[in-house]
Amino acid sequence: MFEEQAKTLRDRVASLSQEAIAKKNPSGWFEPLYAEAGGDSEQVPWAKNQAHPYLQDWLAKYPSQTKGKSALVTGCGLGDDAEILASIGYRVTAFDISSSAIAWCKKRFPESTVDYQVGDLFALNSDWQNKFDLVYECRNIQALPLNVRSQVIKAIALTVAIKGTLLIITRHRDNDTIADGPPWALSDQELAQFVNLGLSEIRRDRFIESGIQQHRIEYSQLRDIPYLLDFGQTAK
Ligand SMILES: C[S@@+](CC[C@H](N)C(=O)[O-])C[C@H]1O[C@@H](n2cnc3c(N)ncnc32)[C@H](O)[C@@H]1O
Repeated sequence: MFEEQAKTLRDRVASLSQEAIAKKNPSGWFEPLYAEAGGDSEQVPWAKNQAHPYLQDWLAKYPSQTKGKSALVTGCGLGDDAEILASIGYRVTAFDISSSAIAWCKKRFPESTVDYQVGDLFALNSDWQNKFDLVYECRNIQALPLNVRSQVIKAIALTVAIKGTLLIITRHRDNDTIADGPPWALSDQELAQFVNLGLSEIRRDRFIESGIQQHRIEYSQLRDIPYLLDFGQTAK
């Protein structure tokens, strides 16, 4: 019975995502999925109802000063990762393209200090450029097809403050493996774009989840001058 439900959900994800991609709106399937879930997190394939274990592990292994620091959680889903960052002292902004997901976060965490917002990785607020001390990106880039990947990577990279940290958790594939998604795992060739945008890789941990290779990568923005470009422009 459980397997049947999982297959129905997988089929639904496949049909919603194919339809959205055919309409050249690759983020267009998330809102219907969250809305159809109707408050049941079992209907959201990536929901863990707790902070990602590898975010928890990173926070425990590499504690840092959070007082007065800001954090941005991209594509925050149901909010657990944003909440754990707020609980240790970060001033957290968390956004997702799905208004149903954001309403769900607010309902789950009515006392939250997190600033939950509906927002689009493809049209980020220009005030966010080089703004956040910690940017946390978990499993969102991989949820978007390869033809928009470089735009999304750039948008995320540009939000990191000078001397700030970017932490990403993603599925990983070899450079010569064809991505088959959703989700479409990231390759080192694609990840190199973060470095081209001025971020330095500080550490990388590899782990397996559900039999799939995942990487947790910490970058630091070591450039000492702000980017002189908009989210829509190309980095030099
Ligand atoms: C696979 S889920 C991961 C959610 C969450 N980061 C986690 O790890 O549980 C991808 C998330 O990205 C959001 N998303 C997709 N396209 C987006 C966009 N263009 N801007 C902001 N969020 C987006 C979806 O609504 C969804 O919540």
